[in-house]
Amino acid sequence: MEKLRIRRPDDWHVHLRRGEVLRAVLPYTTQQFARALVMPNTDPPILTADDVQRYRREIAAPPGFLPLMTVKLTAQTTPTSISHAFEHGAIAAKLYPVGVTTNAEDGVVDEHDLYPVFAAMEQIGMVLCIHGERPNTYCLDRETAYLDVVSWLARTFPRLKIVLEHITCRDTVAFIQNASESVAATITVHHLVLTLDDVVGDRLRPHHFCNPMPKSPADRSALIHAATSGSPKFFLGTDSAPHTREQKEYAAGAAGIFTAPVAMPLLATIFEEEGRLQWLAPFTSEFGADFYGLPKNEGQLELVREPWTVPETLAGIVPFKAGELLSWRVDT
Ligand code: NCD
Ligand code: ZN
Repeated sequence: MEKLRIRRPDDWHVHLRRGEVLRAVLPYTTQQFARALVMPNTDPPILTADDVQRYRREIAAPPGFLPLMTVKLTAQTTPTSISHAFEHGAIAAKLYPVGVTTNAEDGVVDEHDLYPVFAAMEQIGMVLCIHGERPNTYCLDRETAYLDVVSWLARTFPRLKIVLEHITCRDTVAFIQNASESVAATITVHHLVLTLDDVVGDRLRPHHFCNPMPKSPADRSALIHAATSGSPKFFLGTDSAPHTREQKEYAAGAAGIFTAPVAMPLLATIFEEEGRLQWLAPFTSEFGADFYGLPKNEGQLELVREPWTVPETLAGIVPFKAGELLSWRVDT
């Protein structure tokens, strides 16, 4: 097969940032995806209905692309503020436990404090996206240690739609498989490719450093299995998270990998290698839309089997797989 034509995909987790970086990275998302759920951990953050409207205008999406907006939950979020944000187009709210990742210093200390906010979200049909890592825990155990909180949320708010973002380990895959219909997960491209060895196994690879950390080969296999299984509980969220080369190649380097430019080509390779190409389009273009209750995209995306070398930098940002040869290319 030399060409692959699929329904135009959605990215259910992307960091577009603001200002100059936003302008530089946006085309890599819009060239492949019809919609993307834009994360609110910008500087300054997206917290209110006003912020959502301002940020949407700032994104100034080209025709054929729809940014789906989110707000960040903090100690200041109230049932009124969250409902107001929802009315102004935020389809989801993002829960960052305090300090677990980039710009999460204002994150949530105790999830129980947000009980009335979660109740309001359940009532109005707003999705809860969770960065599922427990603060102040050994880095490789953070995700598993947070599953208790997700269990509590799913039990307490049975109609609240919950997406556990960028899952990385076997425990979480099993948790999602056994959870109710209202709980799903996104999987990134880089967690299907990397293990911890690719971050610190020989030399320190800052461009592979991200949250949550890539884990063992067995964990990665479980993720590949989940993503290619055809289960509607798992769908694509790239977590493309650009930081400048200076921010990454630094003594206290930033977490996050800029994967947008290579997302669909790498996925085509992974699904093909698994002999599961028939599940690529459902994973990238159907299951997420169904979970969020949105119509599927009308357009198509064409991938061509044509080797290309990923540039070393794009607008001062080192993309995932920089300098490497990929076998599929997006036909733009
Ligand atoms: C993300 C970022 O840089 O905003 N970083 C990352 O390592 N994934 C934040 C996040 O999603 O954790
Ligand atoms: Zn993210």
